[in-house]
Amino acid sequence: MARKPSRTRASEHSPSLVAVILAAGEGKRMKSALPKVLHPVAGRPMVEHVVLAARQAGASRIVVVVGHGGEAVEQVLRERLDTTDLRFAVQQQRRGTADAVSAAAGHLRGARGEVLILCGDVPSLPGRALGNLVRRHRRRRAALTVLTAALDDPTGYGRIVRNAEGAIEAIVEHRDASEQQRAIREINTGTYCANWPALRRALGRIRPDNAQGEYYLTDAVREVLAEGQRVDACLHQRPEEALGVNSRQHLAAAHRVRSAQVLDALMARGVTILDPTSTWIHDTVRIGRDTVIHPGVCLEGNTRIGKRCVVRSGCRLTDVVVADRVTLLEGTVGTDSSIGAGTQVGPYAHLRPGTVLGAECKVGNFVETKKARFGRGSKASHLSYIGDAEVGRRVNIGAGTITCNYDGANKHRTELDDGVFIGSDTQLVAPVRVGKGAYVGAGATITRDVPAGSLAVSRVEQKNIEGWVARKKKKMAAQKKKSGSGKSRR
Ligand code: UD1
Ligand code: CA
Repeated sequence: MARKPSRTRASEHSPSLVAVILAAGEGKRMKSALPKVLHPVAGRPMVEHVVLAARQAGASRIVVVVGHGGEAVEQVLRERLDTTDLRFAVQQQRRGTADAVSAAAGHLRGARGEVLILCGDVPSLPGRALGNLVRRHRRRRAALTVLTAALDDPTGYGRIVRNAEGAIEAIVEHRDASEQQRAIREINTGTYCANWPALRRALGRIRPDNAQGEYYLTDAVREVLAEGQRVDACLHQRPEEALGVNSRQHLAAAHRVRSAQVLDALMARGVTILDPTSTWIHDTVRIGRDTVIHPGVCLEGNTRIGKRCVVRSGCRLTDVVVADRVTLLEGTVGTDSSIGAGTQVGPYAHLRPGTVLGAECKVGNFVETKKARFGRGSKASHLSYIGDAEVGRRVNIGAGTITCNYDGANKHRTELDDGVFIGSDTQLVAPVRVGKGAYVGAGATITRDVPAGSLAVSRVEQKNIEGWVARKKKKMAAQKKKSGSGKSRR
């Protein structure tokens, strides 16, 4: 779970801007048990992206209208964000987008300034675009400004109908549109800036006379115009960011768009991303300058990566904190762990929860760690399992070493003190401790503590049987001759 991000520059632009996020819809077309707005995109629930964008645009208060799965939506946002500026309004029955805005009215009592209306299922519109919308709305002294986009395939969206002078006249939903209107490529992004008193009056006059029998917020355009007030349409230049998520196909597309934005922001801050098309980094991840991310890397959750690191292909890190100058070779998988400066991990290493590697360590190929702490300069270079272990400094763990930490009922700890050398193919049967500087000979099964400075060996003594091979060969040859002569007699 990502740490609660601190509120970004709220109220810098205008203390009176309020945002309303419509998030009560069921999202039938998603065919999901999870409320639509909680589906993650680039590592955050969709609605969370919208909350953060509203803050960036300067909203000082944000009303989230919830309905279907509303308790879950509220709970998730409360767990993940600082919610002092959030209010939740419940829309009892989903009777349409205008009805959803009306459900928020209780939290807007007395509001005289602008209200930014956003859809909880449009996760890629950046705060910057919303800020521009508000500024243009003010500059043009409009009562209602609609954010629009020109799409190659406008299917499903509300179309922007303009008059001969090019001014917006109406928004017509896809289902209600004529063939001619369906040819219009300019669509409603579901994002608006409105003067609240004017919008409130318009809401009171909207009727559900359309194909779905719903109260359409889009009808506010006609109502505000009918009052003789100004309605403006502001074309957003990046159509891909206007994408509303109604299906799993849309979810995949939104994930691509939002992820590309995350990578762009990282590159702008000095991170090298060699192949943005195959790199997936959550919006919650932070990466330092001059770190190089190779193709096919996934960085998730609360992962933090320092400066001048190299992350090679096929790595997946979830909630892993990586210091500076770390090299993660191909196929390193890590969860809930931390890696010290200058350490090298992989290829194909598995850092399971509770792994804490110090500085200048080495964890090599096919090594698995779990609840293991490595002091500075310690190494497990090949084919090992190190679990529930406290490893001191400059410890060398040989190939094929296994901590036998589980006796079938309980987990036990292994302690390897500073400077210990563990020979290859050793089993450390926990609980067990190897004292400072001690050596364990290869192939040992260590069941008792090893005192500091001593050598532990636990193998069966070797026996050499001289001339055995020649005797064996002679015996075999004799047998062969016997059976061969038997055949020839027939
Ligand atoms: C809506 C717009 C459409 C626009 C599109 C942009 C209307 C009538 N249509 O259509 O012009 O092109 O968004 O993505 O406004 N919601 C509620 N309560 C309700 C109904 C919806 O909270 O009763 C919320 C949904 O959770 C969603 C948002 O409002 O976040 C939009 O609703 P949705 O049903 O997805 O509308 P679209 O058909 O996409
Ligand atoms: Ca939608």
